[in-house]
Amino acid sequence: MSGNDKQHFKTREVRAGVRPDPVTGAILTPIYQTTTYIQESVDKYLEKGYSYSRSGNPTVSALEEKITALEGGAGSLCFATGMAATSCTIMGLVGSGDHVILSDVVYGGTHRVTTKVLNRWGLECSFVDTSNPQNIEQAIRDNSKLIFTETPANPTLKLTDIAAVSEVAKAHAIPHVVDNTFLTPYYQRPLELGADITLHSTTKFMEGHNISVGGSITAASKEHLEQIMFVRNCLGSNMTPMVAFYTLQGVKTMSTRIEAQSANALKVARFLETHPNVDKVCYPGLESFPQKELADRQASGHGSMLWFEVHGGVESGKKLMDALQLWSLAENLGSVESLVTHSVTMTHADMPREERMAAGITDGLVRLSTGLESAEDLIADLKQALDGL
Ligand SMILES: Cc1ncc(COP(=O)(O)O)c(C=O)c1O
Repeated sequence: MSGNDKQHFKTREVRAGVRPDPVTGAILTPIYQTTTYIQESVDKYLEKGYSYSRSGNPTVSALEEKITALEGGAGSLCFATGMAATSCTIMGLVGSGDHVILSDVVYGGTHRVTTKVLNRWGLECSFVDTSNPQNIEQAIRDNSKLIFTETPANPTLKLTDIAAVSEVAKAHAIPHVVDNTFLTPYYQRPLELGADITLHSTTKFMEGHNISVGGSITAASKEHLEQIMFVRNCLGSNMTPMVAFYTLQGVKTMSTRIEAQSANALKVARFLETHPNVDKVCYPGLESFPQKELADRQASGHGSMLWFEVHGGVESGKKLMDALQLWSLAENLGSVESLVTHSVTMTHADMPREERMAAGITDGLVRLSTGLESAEDLIADLKQALDGL
């Protein structure tokens, strides 16, 4: 079943990577909770593909196969977290003294690991507005070894034209990595648009139930996959079998969840547009979205993430977040529970204010991750909190 391109996405989502357990017929891939694998003889070392669970585990392999069936490409790797996926990808593809070009709006942890950890080993970074591919062209230096974009970006939802940036990247023989966390391969498939690697925090839509943290990458080429796998094995940043098991179940309903969550997000966004205490609403499904044409061209859906600015600035924003009863004030996104986040004090707290403001991550930005609850209830909760300001 796995990797069958002729099957529809929803069929692959449920079936790919998973085979009945050969011993019992169990329909779910078991949690292979083991450190090691007994080898039949020295000559038959690795005959069954596994030696030690830092290097590989059958439950994790099933998830990797499933993700490859959804993203395309030569193969996937799963990691302990999304940040482990990001760090191992950068470390696998660049070395000391190399230069990386990143989107000026990226998840705060990506900014942190490049500017506060990898810089200690001589990594040079340029954060540029990748919504204009010319900015990338201009930022390329002789030692540029990686282009890392995030689209839609966390939290501003700024988009990068994946095909256009991949063209620039190819012309300079620099790999292009796309953090595809916000839209899932159901709505956006970067490898089909020319990117070299696509990356996820599986913590978000893939697992989708606030159970586990995890990450994945899918590479178009075996060579990139092997370079990154080597680093994962050296650092021990791999996903545990238990997390792979949860994620295997979560992915089966990913497209169904994101469709319903996106429909809720559109209703919430339309409501917010009408409220007098809301100054600005940003959602790729709204006609007012500044990059609407690109949003519709490169993705088949708009996702469940949106943000707005409350009239009255930071103080009103804080008051609103404290007044919400159904929306939970929490850092995650993409789960079935609706969450509200104040990016400046939470997900992007380490980013210098000047840089943050320049990237559009304003003090009053309230980020919403719309879940699966009834849209009417979600809107009623926002209404009571906004009316009370
Ligand atoms: C877009 C994006 N990429 C990567 C990450 C990092 O993932 P994790 O928290 O699983 O390490 C996050 C986390 O919020 C994210 O939003």
